[in-house]
Amino acid sequence: MDVSPPLGLLAELTHRCPLHCPYCSNPVELTTRDAELSTADWLSVLSQARELGVLQVHMSGGEPLARPDLPELVAHASGLGCYVNLVTSGLGLTSSRLDDLVERGLAHVQLSAQGATRERADLLAGAKAFDRKLAAASLVKSSGLPLSLNVVLHRRNHDQLAGIIELAERMGADRLELANTQYYGWALRNRDALMPTPAQLAAAEPVVRAAVARLRGTMEIVYVVADYYEPYPKPCMYGWGARQLTVAPDGTVLPCPAASAISTLSLSSVRDTPLSEIWYRSSSFNAYRGEEWMTEPCRTCDRRGLDFGGCRCQAFLLTGDAAATDPVCSRSPRRGVVDLVLARPPATDLVMRR
Ligand code: SF4
Ligand code: FES
Repeated sequence: MDVSPPLGLLAELTHRCPLHCPYCSNPVELTTRDAELSTADWLSVLSQARELGVLQVHMSGGEPLARPDLPELVAHASGLGCYVNLVTSGLGLTSSRLDDLVERGLAHVQLSAQGATRERADLLAGAKAFDRKLAAASLVKSSGLPLSLNVVLHRRNHDQLAGIIELAERMGADRLELANTQYYGWALRNRDALMPTPAQLAAAEPVVRAAVARLRGTMEIVYVVADYYEPYPKPCMYGWGARQLTVAPDGTVLPCPAASAISTLSLSSVRDTPLSEIWYRSSSFNAYRGEEWMTEPCRTCDRRGLDFGGCRCQAFLLTGDAAATDPVCSRSPRRGVVDLVLARPPATDLVMRR
């Protein structure tokens, strides 16, 4: 099949992070500092990615500000002509660090928030983070960079949705991403405590719709649905190995950020294989490209061009078979697995990210 070049690179510079969010989608086993790629490795990854066609680089983590070489990496990526986005908790962002990053070509900042009030947000972050996020947002706005606010929604903060939208307005965010939790990595452990109720989701809908209408032209709002409740799955990654690649802190190259969970996949590393070879020829990137791999009911389904059979990681995590139809799908013979999860009583304990 014809494979197009990737458009985006998610560069997970480190798994180190000052927050302890229970919905973290990073793997349960994190990469330690001594196993992280070196500065020289990352410079090479960025050059190879640009050569491959990448135009957008998302520097993420963990907390990318934990890497002292972040300015050098930003300068290199922007010098190659890439649009560089910093995905950050905001902790560790000072006026001088931001000025330096802007000077080196940083184009956009995506800040996370956990709730609308200091008390709730700090509880969910497992750290005193709320005030520092307000300060970080104000720095970004003063720098003139566009600001996105990303808030992961779940049972413990859905009730603050209206307040979260007000918070984004107060911060002057240009874009607000309201993303119901996706259950990968650490988040999967907390699924029974994080799953929103049908009543919460029903209450959210008019609040989001009214905000989208009211703020049109000022702030773009993106709402990511709670897919367990949906009749059809999300078009995850717009298809496997289709648009974006992820490089994990240790150099493992992933077709999607959660793919290390698929234990049947043989993953390649930038430490020993060129990025272009991984993108075009590796078994991991080719495993679920196109439609050849599909089983029934996806194989002959009229929606397969819309959702690509859903999410491979979710299929693996819930059925043990990454080539299965995403069990979120109402046409999947395994939909019962998801319905059982939804029928369970909520868990009361949240296990914070360690
Ligand atoms: Fe999508 Fe497969 Fe479900 Fe059809 S059967 S809607 S292709 S996940
Ligand atoms: Fe991996 Fe959906 S998160 S394919």
